[in-house]
Amino acid sequence: APSPSRSVKRVLVTGGLGYIGSHVVLSLLLSNRYLPIVIDNGHNGYPEALERCNEIAAAEVGPDVLKPVYHPCDIRDSDALKAVFSEYESEGGVWGVIHLAALKAVGESAEIPLEYYNVNVGGSMLLLQVMKEFNTSKLVFSSSATVYGTPAATPIPETSAIMPESAYGRTKAITESIIQDVCRADYLSSKDNGLRAISVRYFNPAGAHPSGRLGEEPVGRPGNLLPILAQIAAGRLSSELKVFGNDYPTRDGTCLRDYLHIMDLADGHLLALDALDEDIQTGGIPKSIDFRQHGHFRAFNLGRGKGITVLEMINEMNKATGYDYQYEIVARRIGDVPDLTADPRSAERELGFVAKRGLEEMCEDLWRFQSGNRDGYSA
Ligand code: WQD
Repeated sequence: APSPSRSVKRVLVTGGLGYIGSHVVLSLLLSNRYLPIVIDNGHNGYPEALERCNEIAAAEVGPDVLKPVYHPCDIRDSDALKAVFSEYESEGGVWGVIHLAALKAVGESAEIPLEYYNVNVGGSMLLLQVMKEFNTSKLVFSSSATVYGTPAATPIPETSAIMPESAYGRTKAITESIIQDVCRADYLSSKDNGLRAISVRYFNPAGAHPSGRLGEEPVGRPGNLLPILAQIAAGRLSSELKVFGNDYPTRDGTCLRDYLHIMDLADGHLLALDALDEDIQTGGIPKSIDFRQHGHFRAFNLGRGKGITVLEMINEMNKATGYDYQYEIVARRIGDVPDLTADPRSAERELGFVAKRGLEEMCEDLWRFQSGNRDGYSA
């Protein structure tokens, strides 16, 4: 592939081997506007995911598509992080960062909170420090609906109170506050090239790229509902399916979640980068994003605004896979809240974000990936 010209914007994608990270990398490649520089410590992702990204991007964009560069690197390793940034100094440097690297299991965060704070908060602080040293000023931060805890009302707007109920949710809320304070300090001091950041609060990512070649391939047993359902249907997991409580105040007693197709979620990151990109903001598509009134920090929900219960999702996956799930209702899972449904209107208004794919497509794309990769990426 041709060596990228200086005009290409290099975007560091931390956690780029993961489920969300690899689909974000693919979205950047398909845009052919941003060159992904991927760092990941391999905790919950495989390098094969990048090979699949290249395969899909070459098929969709052509053989000259930009190629992501991968550096094995732990977000807490200062020397390694600086070495990555240094490598691109002579070629225009790292233009921006999409920061996804984190530990992300709500239940696990109650068992090993210090590890969660070390990686998610400590790692983010180190990244901000290195960005400052290398004058990289654009940041898209991977946050989560779990920062809202049990919201006063749903659908949840970004103005809803931030009151996380898990260590994981607290690491995301604390990191958002750190980023916001740095943006505001740079803004108030009129620092040249001050930090501008957009925090994207995910609801429930689901599905896979429609090619069936890229999807969720967690290291070890999955903890989330969708990959569990997919792996059960593919015979990778025992058929034992537990539903964590059916005594919630919802239409069928099981929790409501706002499932969003992973490619819609990935495209949301591209829109966030575009909103930070002055070349686009001034020269190209004028966006209505308002940064000034918010000290150069904004947070947006990425969701569809439609809540689906656990039992309804099991039914959707039954339709997509043909598998007849047998489940047992057991006790509630600690940290679960009854309803996390997004109010996505401000992302629609200011980022131009509109979820294009529905539930059926999520389940069909997930099943196409899972049934075509029963041995994971090694196949
Ligand atoms: C969904 C529903 C469970 C498994 C996830 C991520 C979290 C955050 C938000 C990134 C809940 C129920 C699950 C099972 C079940 N993402 N369930 N049986 O908890 O909404 O959080 O998305 O920031 O990091 O973990 O997703 O898929 O674990 O649960 O009944 O075997 O399915 O109780 O109601 P969750 P989930």
